[in-house]
Amino acid sequence: MSINQNTAGSIVVTPVCDAIGADVICGDVKKMTPTVFHQLQQAFHQYLVIRIRGQQLNIEQLLNFGRWFGTLSRGAPVHIGQKPRDEQYPELAIISNVIENGLAIGGLGDGEAVWHTDSSFNDIPPSLSVLYSVEIPPAGGDTGFANMYTALDALPKALRNEIGGRTIKHDKRFTSGGQLRPGFQADQDLQDSPGPSHPIIRKHPDTGRDALYLGRRPCAYVNGLSLTDSEALLDTLWSYATREEFTWHHQWRLGDILIWDNRCTMHRRDAIDPQTRRIMHRTQCHGTAVISGM
Ligand SMILES: [Fe+2]
Repeated sequence: MSINQNTAGSIVVTPVCDAIGADVICGDVKKMTPTVFHQLQQAFHQYLVIRIRGQQLNIEQLLNFGRWFGTLSRGAPVHIGQKPRDEQYPELAIISNVIENGLAIGGLGDGEAVWHTDSSFNDIPPSLSVLYSVEIPPAGGDTGFANMYTALDALPKALRNEIGGRTIKHDKRFTSGGQLRPGFQADQDLQDSPGPSHPIIRKHPDTGRDALYLGRRPCAYVNGLSLTDSEALLDTLWSYATREEFTWHHQWRLGDILIWDNRCTMHRRDAIDPQTRRIMHRTQCHGTAVISGM
C-alpha cells in the first residue's frame, strides 16, 4: 500500500472488517490539507477507528497531526519508576516496555492491558487518541477495538431500559495495565472509591448516536445498586460489549497511526514479550462533558 495514492486529493477508505475500523490512504499526513482532513474526519465518524500506514513522524509532526482533530491534552501522569516527562512535549505520552538506566521510558509496561476507554476516570475524558508506532516487537502487543454503538444496539430492550438514566463510577486508582496510580489506596470499597460518574448510555456529541460507555471492568460500580447487583449488571453488559462480532484486533507495523474515538469504542492490548522492545507515541484531544443518551 503506497502512501502516495492521494494525488487527486481524495482519500481511499477500506473497512478492515464488518465490526469497526478502516484503512485510510491519505498521503503523507505531514502534508494534510483541510479538504483531505474533512474526508478523514468523515471516515473517522463512520468507522470509529482509522488506520493510516507507512508514515514517518517525529514527535512534533505527530503532535501537529493530532492538532487537526482538536486541542491536545497533557499526556497521562508519569508513574513511579518512570522517566520524567520531557516538558518540551507535554502533550506526548510514551507507551513502552523499555527500561533505560533503571527507569521505564513510558507507561503500561509489557503486560496485557484490559478492555477500556481512555481516561474515563477524568470528569472530561479525551475525545480521541492518536497512537503511532516508533518501535515494535516481532510479535505481541496487538491492539483490539470494540464498537460500543453496536454493543448498545445488541442489548435486549429490557436491559437497555434498566440502564437508561443510570451511571457508572469510573475508578481512578488503577491503570488499564493494573498498576496503582500514585497517591491512591489499593484496598478500598468500590462504593467509596474515587472517580467521576458517567452515564452508561452516552450520546456522541458529534454524531448524535448513543453508545455504551463502560470505562473498564475492574473496580467499576453502578451507582445506586448494591455491590452484588452492580457486579451482576456489569457482568451482563460486558458480555455484550466484548463479543467477537463487535471487535477487531490490529497487528502493528512500523509507521502505523491509529486514531480511535474514546466516546464510542473500547480497546485492549495483548501482552508483550519482555525480552522485546515496543515504543509507541500517543497524543489525545480534549473532550467535552459526557452527555447522557436515551
Ligand atoms: Fe488505552
